[in-house]
Amino acid sequence: MLLHLDASARRTSFSRRLSRLYAETWRTAHPQAGYAYRDLAANPVPHIGEAWTEICDHILEREITDIARYREAVRTPAQRAAWAIVEPLLQEVVAAEVILIGTPMYNYSIPSSLKAWLDQITFPKMSLRGRSFVVTSARGGAYGPGTPREPYDHQERYLRDFFKGHFGVDDVTFIHAELANARLDPALAHLREQHERSLSAAVEAVAKEAAR
Ligand SMILES: Cc1cc2nc3c(=O)[nH]c(=O)nc-3n(C[C@H](O)[C@H](O)[C@H](O)COP(=O)(O)O)c2cc1C
Repeated sequence: MLLHLDASARRTSFSRRLSRLYAETWRTAHPQAGYAYRDLAANPVPHIGEAWTEICDHILEREITDIARYREAVRTPAQRAAWAIVEPLLQEVVAAEVILIGTPMYNYSIPSSLKAWLDQITFPKMSLRGRSFVVTSARGGAYGPGTPREPYDHQERYLRDFFKGHFGVDDVTFIHAELANARLDPALAHLREQHERSLSAAVEAVAKEAAR
């Protein structure tokens, strides 16, 4: 199953365009596999609340590491209400072979809509081994190796560290379309060609990755 998430606040967006291309290509290659889609910007998941933290604390205290047993930590009406939000999100993650995330860089990091989803579905010592993550991203600037802004990339670095460090997933691919601001900012007009090249390379890389 392919779980496809988008997080851009824009409807016409580079990260959405790239994730859509990936999903279409992947689904053509895997016609029998399932597909689930969530637009985290249009239909945001709520932030976690106190009842969520109670469930999480109980999972930790009881040393529950099997995702299928998390439900045992849900006891009060407030916790049941919190679990009703988590459960469908978590079921999609567990069912997925590939988790595809179309996300912009916002303020050197990820949109809060994506962070809210991650907070909802993440529990202590939770393994997602055997799955892969694909992230199609767009940024206003350039953050590649050797660029002055490379150390400010808390988008790829955060997600990559989290997927490996917390979920134990090594199979993580990032494809970035960079310098999107060159289309808008007259001061960056000289970088428009570089942006076009980055976008074309990203489209090519997405098509290749989705067919792998
Ligand atoms: C709220 C906001 C914050 C942004 N922060 C950054 C940033 O820190 N660095 C950057 O390079 N671009 C930044 N941008 C530019 C976006 O990354 C760029 O517009 C990108 O194309 C957005 O992805 P999308 O086309 O999928 O919507 C920001 C844009 C917005 C709307």
